[in-house]
Amino acid sequence: MIRDIPEKTLEELSRLISTHTGLYFPEQKWTALNKGVQSVINDLDTDIHQFIRCLQVSPPKEIIDSLTARLTIGETYFLRDKNFFQILQDHILRGIIEHPKRKTKKIIFWSAGCASGEEPYSIAILIDHMFPVLKNWDITIIGSDINPVALEKARKGFFSSWSMRETPEKIIKKYFTPAAGNYFQIAPHIRQMVQFSQLNLMDGYYPAALNCYEPMDIILCRNVLMYFNEHGRNSVIQKLSGLLIDNGWMITGPAESGFVNLPEFTSVRFPNALYHRKGPPRKEFETPRPIRVSREIINTRPAASVPAERRKLDQRYGRRQTDGKAPPSPEKPKYDMYQEALRDYNLRDYSQSVKKLLVILSKEQNGSNAFLMKTESMVLLAKAYANIGELEQARTWCEKAIGTEKLNPEIYYLLSTIFQSAGDIEAAVKSLKQSIYLDPEFIMAHFTLGMLLRQKQMPGESKKSMQNALSILELKDADETLPFSEGMAAGRLIETIKSMKIN
Ligand SMILES: C[S@@+](CC[C@H](N)C(=O)[O-])C[C@H]1O[C@@H](n2cnc3c(N)ncnc32)[C@H](O)[C@@H]1O
Repeated sequence: MIRDIPEKTLEELSRLISTHTGLYFPEQKWTALNKGVQSVINDLDTDIHQFIRCLQVSPPKEIIDSLTARLTIGETYFLRDKNFFQILQDHILRGIIEHPKRKTKKIIFWSAGCASGEEPYSIAILIDHMFPVLKNWDITIIGSDINPVALEKARKGFFSSWSMRETPEKIIKKYFTPAAGNYFQIAPHIRQMVQFSQLNLMDGYYPAALNCYEPMDIILCRNVLMYFNEHGRNSVIQKLSGLLIDNGWMITGPAESGFVNLPEFTSVRFPNALYHRKGPPRKEFETPRPIRVSREIINTRPAASVPAERRKLDQRYGRRQTDGKAPPSPEKPKYDMYQEALRDYNLRDYSQSVKKLLVILSKEQNGSNAFLMKTESMVLLAKAYANIGELEQARTWCEKAIGTEKLNPEIYYLLSTIFQSAGDIEAAVKSLKQSIYLDPEFIMAHFTLGMLLRQKQMPGESKKSMQNALSILELKDADETLPFSEGMAAGRLIETIKSMKIN
């Protein structure tokens, strides 16, 4: 491959950039490195030799800022990985709030590598949502990133619809105001809950930059560690651990939990996730099901034997008291049931999955908290119905899911597959176009649209869609797996499209 910057120089750049920022640029990523460095050199009006000399000595902050702004991937969105936010609400926060030995009513969160702020703001929204429970608690939420441009955006609090692609409509309506140009402004009281600081995680001492000298309760470092080399990763994890309070939580992205191997941590398994708590194993909290445990206690013991403290907590959370009368039948929390339905689905027991999901979705309330996975439940139900051939039901639930997350391109894509199964190609094309409108880079939507238009004998339009797919595919690594492709790699799809001789 032809590169503007010679390979030897790229190698040296990769080493220097890793030293200053921790960012890891192995050879496979040299195209991106080349591009990023070229634009920094252009901005600074210098040449590559001067630039390297500057990095070899002691580069000023402006140069590091400019480099990181060009080289980091700030991909993020509100409520990214709802599974995590559900666990945070139901298990981690509950564990903190209900812990009998907790002396202070204070929780400090730190989102390390927060990009443009969607992650710490999502925590603020969750906390606001849980307000009755956390009424007298002092909550601090810090967001930090190395990239000053991303932080500026975070502080302003304006987000495009793309940042809200997995945000339930109810939350959008409650916490955002539509602004010009398809943007949404976050509610002022949520904006005020988060403080932002610029921090390079490779730098020595964190508290001063964060202006926080107290130990943290929950540190999120999600989808950040994977950009560092092993040495950088380990040193960051060590420093993050030093800032955590005993029993504090270290939350990484789904692909990063294996990086946390320090002996001071206990790994705690949750449904579809593994997080790390600082401290030795704790029997009562390592099976993290406080809601269910407490329900069982409430439902099976006469009131007199329930400790007064526990009763107070139950009253605070609006749980039912039995007053010594016959206990109501135990209820499973929705989240547990969702996990069971998901397991049934994965075992291809679609009818069982349908049964459970219908129960979850028919319950208006379960405890005082909203169920974050409602849209996921509807989507799963639609898929389960589609798998048993009940396409009308599948369509109904898919449309209901769209009603709850109108900006989510993936649900429109699912709807298009249901229409395809029902043989309604017109409607499938329409859904795919909606999906592409919401995510112009949705490769499989472009490709499927191309195939359907071909089927409809519209070669010109089909070719356009295939070309759109190709131009996005060419920016991907050949072995990158494409979402919604059932495991197909980018290179394979390029071959497939080319073999179709669309030109
Ligand atoms: C993919 S985003 C993750 C955002 C958010 N945590 C999430 O999961 O949605 C990665 C972020 O890590 C930041 N980052 C990369 N290297 C960093 C460093 N050395 N110090 C601090 N932040 C860094 C990038 O600027 C980028 O905003």
